[in-house]
Amino acid sequence: MRYRLFGKTGLSVSVFGLGCMRFPTEKDADGNQIVEKDKAFELIHTAINEGVNYFDTAYPYHGGQSEPLLGEALSSVNREEIFVATKSPVWKVEDHDDFERFIDKQLERLRTDYIDFYLLHSLNRKLWDKAIEHRALDFLEKIQSDGRAKHVGFSFHDNFDVFKEITRSYDWDMLQIQLNFLDQHYQAGLKGLEFAAEMEIPVVVMEPLRGGRLAEPPSKEIAAAWNKASLKRKPVEWAFRWLYNRPEVNVILSGVSTMEHLKEDIAIFDKAEPRCMTEEELRVVEQVRELYDKGLPVRCTGCNYCIPCPSGVEIASVFNLYNNASLYNDYDNQSRLYKNWFVDPGKGAEACVECGQCEEACPQELPVIKLLKEAHSHLITEEFQHMQNLRTS
Ligand SMILES: NC(=O)c1ccc[n+]([C@@H]2O[C@H](COP(=O)([O-])OP(=O)(O)OC[C@H]3O[C@@H](n4cnc5c(N)ncnc54)[C@H](OP(=O)(O)O)[C@@H]3O)[C@@H](O)[C@H]2O)c1
Ligand code: SF4
Ligand code: SF4
Repeated sequence: MRYRLFGKTGLSVSVFGLGCMRFPTEKDADGNQIVEKDKAFELIHTAINEGVNYFDTAYPYHGGQSEPLLGEALSSVNREEIFVATKSPVWKVEDHDDFERFIDKQLERLRTDYIDFYLLHSLNRKLWDKAIEHRALDFLEKIQSDGRAKHVGFSFHDNFDVFKEITRSYDWDMLQIQLNFLDQHYQAGLKGLEFAAEMEIPVVVMEPLRGGRLAEPPSKEIAAAWNKASLKRKPVEWAFRWLYNRPEVNVILSGVSTMEHLKEDIAIFDKAEPRCMTEEELRVVEQVRELYDKGLPVRCTGCNYCIPCPSGVEIASVFNLYNNASLYNDYDNQSRLYKNWFVDPGKGAEACVECGQCEEACPQELPVIKLLKEAHSHLITEEFQHMQNLRTS
């Protein structure tokens, strides 16, 4: 395992971090999905034996089972050699005291009296405003001074402007962003990574394999493009290498449910040197990225030059969902995200009043109005189709 210096904390942290939201599960007698404890323990202990010292969990992972499970697994190892990151479920906070209630519950679940990295979870515009309203920053200061958290940070899912605002608003010890070679310009993206590096804040990357989807090329052309490289590698290794090649990346999290994947990932991270990729290798990744891009119905780069839209349409998010649905033929999940989570109610494509402002601003010269209608009709229609199928099956 390779290690990198974790910013001003001075800690030496493994470049591979184990994400604790994808453990193997089974159904219990009542039909509830439960984590297969023995297998999860084996994954955690193997990771530790292989030198992994960073574990990322959160209050809601595995329906609340992840934190207690990690706490129990770590009770038999030297806690001081392990860094535990967990997160405050900001969306559940109704008043300032809730922050206190959640962290105390989390300490109990984790069987510890301190958390190494305590993050405000999944911040976006709305949750950041909520965090400020309930004085989250006072809370973070307090838990650092009373020792319940050694270091504090946030995890992030919104655009670069919101990212900059949050990053500048506090003396963060670390932060966590989504990044992979396909999502270079999505959410905080590479700009966010570079901005954090300028501010000397260490960066933990999540979803390096896009939740596992980058492991399997979705077309023969993409598989062939990977195979053009003089040194043959699996797509998973290319994806991880592209990230650890960047010296600004401190930790790369991946969740695994099988020992085979854990061991494969650990072997890949044995070579996790910054600036390890040659020009030729970077070209291979770029060619693959272009092929993925070509297969997308909307060539939106997620730059967000088109916002604010006067009607509040979250244009890049709508296009991203449509692209994912099309690329992976995954209309059910993307439709659900479209309707229920990613796009705030009333901020979907249907809110567009066709003022044309976004089209003037778009550097890709996209016909945004037409494409929003197309995205909306696909995301909604496919979901209705699915509901029909369920009714008739
Ligand atoms: N803060 C937030 O808002 C937030 C959001 C998302 C994630 N996270 C954190 O970030 C972590 C990383 O994200 P992620 O889990 O989505 O990471 P990821 O690496 O993008 O995806 C993990 C998936 O990749 C698959 N995989 C891993 N190694 C593989 C290999 N060698 N070959 C083939 N497939 C492989 C795993 O499959 P198997 O399950 O089959 O092994 C797993 O399902 C999470 O676990 C979580 O801790 C945080
Ligand atoms: S055309 Fe529609 S999406 Fe674009 S800025 Fe105007 S209202 Fe927003
Ligand atoms: S300006 Fe164009 S490319 Fe940029 S996010 Fe908006 S639609 Fe996408």
